[in-house]
Amino acid sequence: MSSRLMPPTPVLHTPRLVLRPVRSKDAPVIQRRFPRWDVVKWLNPNIPWPYPADGATTFVANCLAEMARGEKSHWAIVPRKGPADLIGLIDLWPDDGSSRDQRGFWLDPEYQGQGLMTEAANRVTDYAFRELKWPCLWLRNAQENHASRRIKEKQGARLVDLMISECVSGKVEQMVWQLNARDWMARQSA
Ligand SMILES: CC(C)(COP(=O)(O)OP(=O)(O)OC[C@H]1O[C@@H](n2cnc3c(N)ncnc32)[C@H](O)[C@@H]1OP(=O)(O)O)[C@@H](O)C(=O)NCCC(=O)NCCS
Repeated sequence: MSSRLMPPTPVLHTPRLVLRPVRSKDAPVIQRRFPRWDVVKWLNPNIPWPYPADGATTFVANCLAEMARGEKSHWAIVPRKGPADLIGLIDLWPDDGSSRDQRGFWLDPEYQGQGLMTEAANRVTDYAFRELKWPCLWLRNAQENHASRRIKEKQGARLVDLMISECVSGKVEQMVWQLNARDWMARQSA
């Protein structure tokens, strides 16, 4: 099992992106970009839908509390070439020994299909394995969520289970993946 406590969320860089900790000023842009059915439908069922007017404010307050308690890291995804505002989010949390899920992400549809989330997910994965020295990552997606599934495949994750699970759109078949640090390092140096 990974260490149960996250250190303070660092700023991470990729060729096209800056990943920086979520802050309270992010609430209005999240409220503008996030609540679309195509973004929300495969996500955690705890997300209120229809999304309330104060949904992002509540969400950001929760992110800040989770980061302060060392429970999760929440990064805003900001393109180096602009806009200055975030275009999506990615988060990471330690293995709790039972949930088999340690990473989440979404991107405004306007910026999808350019390999940006692969880039963000690769940097966060590298952080988990090289900086936090976790031995593996549990990852999940709805089977029909082809883009999310493809990111796991491209990262070299192994499909270990299929299970029925709840998401915003209801009960779906979920794929459970495991990505090992050893395999990741070998892939990076290949
Ligand atoms: C999942 C998500 C973050 C992907 O973001 P993205 O920046 O577009 O992803 P990338 O461009 O890095 O990579 C997506 C891959 O999926 C592929 N893909 C996208 N749609 C696909 C589809 N319908 N069928 C098959 N492959 C698909 C892309 O071609 C790409 O693979 P490739 O590099 O081999 O061509 C984005 O679709 C999203 O925000 N979805 C809504 C939120 C969500 O579902 N989050 C994940 C919950 S588990």
